[in-house]
Amino acid sequence: MSAAVPWSGQRVVVTGGGSGIGEAIVRKAAGLGATVLAVGRHRGRLARVAESSGSRVHVHVCDVTQRGAAASVVSAACERLGGIDALVNNAGHARFAPLERAGPEEFGRMLETNVVAAAALIRAALPQLRVSRGAVVNVSSVGGALAMPGRAYYGASKAALNSLTRSLAVELAPDVRVNAVLPGPVDTKLWTEAAGDGVDALREGVIAGTPMGRFGESDEVATWVCHLLDPTGAAWVTGSLIPVDGGRTA
Ligand SMILES: NC(=O)c1ccc[n+]([C@@H]2O[C@H](COP(=O)([O-])OP(=O)(O)OC[C@H]3O[C@@H](n4cnc5c(N)ncnc54)[C@H](OP(=O)(O)O)[C@@H]3O)[C@@H](O)[C@H]2O)c1
Repeated sequence: MSAAVPWSGQRVVVTGGGSGIGEAIVRKAAGLGATVLAVGRHRGRLARVAESSGSRVHVHVCDVTQRGAAASVVSAACERLGGIDALVNNAGHARFAPLERAGPEEFGRMLETNVVAAAALIRAALPQLRVSRGAVVNVSSVGGALAMPGRAYYGASKAALNSLTRSLAVELAPDVRVNAVLPGPVDTKLWTEAAGDGVDALREGVIAGTPMGRFGESDEVATWVCHLLDPTGAAWVTGSLIPVDGGRTA
C-alpha cells in the first residue's frame, strides 16, 4: 500500500508568514503539500519566502490591524487558494518594558495585533472554515501563562488570546477546531527588537530559566502548529494550549 500524501489539498492562511516562526510554518505546510497564503506588511519578506518555497505559496500584503484587513485576507484566500481549511494567527507585536516606561498606546497596539486582529480573522474566515470543517491555530506565548514582570502587556495580550482560543473551541465545535501553541523564547526579529537595549541580560536570564538550556528554533514551533492543523491526526484535539517551550512552564 502506498503512503497517503500528508496534507495534500489543504489550503492554509498564515499571518506574519514573512519571517521567524510564521516563515517556518509557511515552509513546513507547503513542504507537506498544502497551498499557503502568507500574509504580512512587507511584500519583500513575503516574496522571499514564496520564491524559495515553490509555487504552492501565495502572498497577500496587509496590516492585520487595519479596518477591512480580515475581509481582504479571506477574499485573497478564496481567490488564490479556492477556500480555507486552516488559519494560523501568527502575526504578533511585542515590546518588553516595565509599566512606568510603556504607556497605554503600547498596550493597545499589542492587544490590536495579538488578539483583536486574530479574532477578526477567525470571524471573517468562519464561513469558509465551517464548510471545510477546518482548524485554527493561534500562536500565543508562554507569556500568556506565566507572570511576566517587565513584560506585563505582552503577557496580558497572550493570556487574552489563550482565553479566546478556549472559548471559541467550545463555541465552534464540532465544525471548527481551535487550538494554540505557546512558544517559549525563540531567537527571532520580534524577540530581539522587543528586548531592546537589555537584550544581552534578558537572553542570559531566559536561558537560565529554560530547563532545556537554550532558545527554541522557529522550526520546532512550526512542527507543533502543523500537528495541530493535521486534519486526521489532530481531529479530536480542540481547545488545547500546547506549550512548546523547552520546559519553561513545567
Ligand atoms: N520569538 C519568541 O520568543 C516568541 C515566543 C512566544 C511567542 N511568539 C509569537 O510568535 C509569533 C511570531 O513571532 P516571531 O517570534 O516569529 O517574530 P517575527 O519574525 O518578528 O514575526 C512576527 C511577524 O508578524 C508580522 N506582523 C506583525 N505585525 C503585523 C501586522 N500588523 N500585520 C501583519 N503582519 C504583522 C511581521 O511581519 P511584517 O513586519 O513584515 O508585517 C512578522 O512576520 C508572534 O505572535 C509572537 O508573539 C514569539
